[in-house]
Amino acid sequence: LKVLSVASEAVPLVKTGGLADVAGALPAAVSGHGVEMTTLLPGYPAVMQSLGKVRAIHTWPALLGEPARLLAGRIGDHPLLVLDAPGFFARGGQPYSDSTGHDWGDNWRRFAAFSRAAADIAGGAVKRKAFDVLHAHDWQAALAPAYLRYAPPEGGQAVPSVQTVHNMAFQGYCHASIFPWLGLPHEAWSVDGVEYHGGVGMLKAGLTSAGKITTVSPTYAAEIRSGEFGMGLEGLIRARGHDVVGILNGIDTALWNPATDPALARHYTPRTLPRRAANKRAIETVFGLDHDDGPLFVVISRLTWQKGMDVLLEVLDHLVGIGGRLALLGSGDPRIEQGLHEAAARHPGRIAVRIGYDEDLSHRMQGGGDAILVPSRFEPCGLTQLYGLAYGCVPVVARTGGLADTVIDANPAALAAGVATGVQHGAVSYDSLAAALNRTVALYWQPGEWERLQRNGMKCDFSWAASGRAYADLYRSLAA
Ligand code: ADP
Ligand code: GLC
Repeated sequence: LKVLSVASEAVPLVKTGGLADVAGALPAAVSGHGVEMTTLLPGYPAVMQSLGKVRAIHTWPALLGEPARLLAGRIGDHPLLVLDAPGFFARGGQPYSDSTGHDWGDNWRRFAAFSRAAADIAGGAVKRKAFDVLHAHDWQAALAPAYLRYAPPEGGQAVPSVQTVHNMAFQGYCHASIFPWLGLPHEAWSVDGVEYHGGVGMLKAGLTSAGKITTVSPTYAAEIRSGEFGMGLEGLIRARGHDVVGILNGIDTALWNPATDPALARHYTPRTLPRRAANKRAIETVFGLDHDDGPLFVVISRLTWQKGMDVLLEVLDHLVGIGGRLALLGSGDPRIEQGLHEAAARHPGRIAVRIGYDEDLSHRMQGGGDAILVPSRFEPCGLTQLYGLAYGCVPVVARTGGLADTVIDANPAALAAGVATGVQHGAVSYDSLAAALNRTVALYWQPGEWERLQRNGMKCDFSWAASGRAYADLYRSLAA
């Protein structure tokens, strides 16, 4: 079975968040189940550089107004297609924003063009390329199912599609005036198509047009049926009924394994946990934190409201007050960044902050921190708690979305049964977070219990084995 996975980012070529981890891991996850997955990426500078010398296998004289070519390469061991459209993608800054952090004004056109190309490729417009299913990720690819439904390539066919929602908060909502430029027939302008509150809803278009909808954890699949999490699309999700499924993300165990991770000062396994101490010392040194035996908390996160980082700020004095230290890596909301700098200044040696994006450091923090804090208000899946589990960095998480599905709270029953892997707290607030920190610190000072938490987490299977099969089964059911 041949599947075209359409993603706006994928590890190791371009990453702004968890979508890249997932899109990068999927081809290997499904290949053992009879699926050959090809990934389509936009030709950002970093992606173009990875290609070396290649020939164009298809050209578009004007794709949403810009000339474009299709290039073929490899991403790891798997086939890659790159949409080389310099007018859209040959620019500095980030994939979705300029270097000052503002979204590119023409994002709708960039990703409509990307989606149009995806539909052409999957629909058979490119010689010697044929696909059975198109898999679209997030709003950036979500017009592809709509193009296949309303305007498949000439002489081609409307192959079935899957739309995955990695985050309902990002919907690609645009003014109605863009509609004529999309090249969709008039009938697509309907509540059952792309029209959404008088504008164009790109994610909505994927949700109405794809044969199946997936999201990245079972709990989030249930949550988005409600107004609080569905963010306006809950009615549509409910109406799609059994076409909506939650498939939990896995982690790429080749990249995230503390026994082999090249970023770590010291490798370890569940049986050699004391070796983590060297990694903890290394993190303290990098961040300029005091060396002591107390708990070292880490945070690796976008600094946003979704991630509960504003509430984390409020609870930092308490964290220090109960003997904790914090090393934080992230970037985002300038007010949160400022608040973190102030907290670090108030608590030298106890709180340290690194604003920026650093893949290597994120691995070292998982390998040396005692506990990772993920106080998200909503979290479709979340990957940092999974990396924490794999690395013996005990996750302290909000009970929502994928966090609820992957961490077993150290409540009395779980402790008695010996199955706990972390700490969960309820709705994100100062009180719930402070209570979770208290509970975590108390557990930390019971070394037997703490090591058991760490080992339980490290022994969990969060590989792609089960979810790779689930996606393969889903593709097959659509293609049948
Ligand atoms: P989201 O995609 O919502 O940001 P996830 O937990 O699914 O959240 O994925 C975030 C990914 O980005 C993880 O791989 C995490 O390690 C990584 N990450 C987040 N912030 C940083 C950062 N500042 N530096 C390095 N990696 C980061
Ligand atoms: C989104 C979500 C995150 C999820 C990731 C990968 O960025 O916010 O929870 O893990 O996508 O699916």
